[in-house]
Amino acid sequence: MATAVAQEAERLFSNLLHVECQPGAQWTLERCHEVAPLICEINRLKAEKNAIILAHSYVDPEIVYGVADFKSDSYALSLEARNSDADVILFAGVVFMAETAKILCPDAQVLVPDLGSGCSLADSLTGAELAALKARHPEAAVVCYINSSAEVKAVSDVCVTSANVYRIIERLPQREILFVPDRLMAANIGREMAARGIDKVIHSSDGTCLVHDQFTAGAIAEARVRFPGVKVVSHPECTPEVTEASDFVGSTGKMMEYVSDTDAAYFMLLTECGLVSRVEVENPGKQFVGSCRLCPYMKLNSLQKIRDVLVDPRPHQVIELDESVRVAALRSIERMFELS
Ligand code: 13P
Ligand code: SF4
Repeated sequence: MATAVAQEAERLFSNLLHVECQPGAQWTLERCHEVAPLICEINRLKAEKNAIILAHSYVDPEIVYGVADFKSDSYALSLEARNSDADVILFAGVVFMAETAKILCPDAQVLVPDLGSGCSLADSLTGAELAALKARHPEAAVVCYINSSAEVKAVSDVCVTSANVYRIIERLPQREILFVPDRLMAANIGREMAARGIDKVIHSSDGTCLVHDQFTAGAIAEARVRFPGVKVVSHPECTPEVTEASDFVGSTGKMMEYVSDTDAAYFMLLTECGLVSRVEVENPGKQFVGSCRLCPYMKLNSLQKIRDVLVDPRPHQVIELDESVRVAALRSIERMFELS
């Protein structure tokens, strides 16, 4: 057993040796030895309970590289949930992602380590508020970003993620689109549709992501002076000024692909720090300009909470949905799979 724990510590360290475990401090082999017993226990519990852990790339790297069975963006993780035959799905991410897994896998027990792991976008709009907005735009197709509650998905025609948003909106027959709950992504959609020569009118609600709405075009301009040759990579939740000034805009999964496929002196990633840790681990020769921000909700996940919820899930850590809401929300997600 001691050998298995030591091997786990060394395996983890080989992944994390260039990554910070807290601002200004790198991972060390000693720190990996401290967390390895918990990682081994979680991996044993998963096997015992036929459980899988789906981890969004924004959660801490010891979760991503220690216990996750799948690590990716919201779209790929929803596909993993849909294809899974696990009895237990533990979502290391935020609540709307776990709800999506429950919508797709009603027979599985879906767990979250911390029910406080909300999202400033998902929490900005209720299903009743969307129903009222819909009444004001009766001709519009209602498109919800996956960063929304199950109730909002249930009132929508189609769900999208940052990996498929432009393609799906382009393919919808309606000219008018009510896109919720991210007004910055709505502005980026309007810009992208105009660039593609597609005539759409985009309405939205008033949410923003508290991580991505902070990045500025001024910081990009400064980085271009200080780091000649830098490639700026941003997420469509950023402001249109930021996406316009970027070299590449895409989902967290597409951002990772862009970095691995591109030669550049430096990369500046305008997104959450967990993704920057992932690209650092998976692109050891590349240089990154410090630019990321922390999502407080994603950071509520921890190895200890993952272990505790697997041992003894408390009622508030188990995702439960009203069946009529789940079935209605499933329609908008299945429409996304059809149109992706
Ligand atoms: P992705 O779907 O691109 O992973 O984004 C999820 C998210 O919450 C971004 O802030
Ligand atoms: Fe929500 Fe932004 Fe956090 Fe993503 S990064 S979960 S959009 S608050």
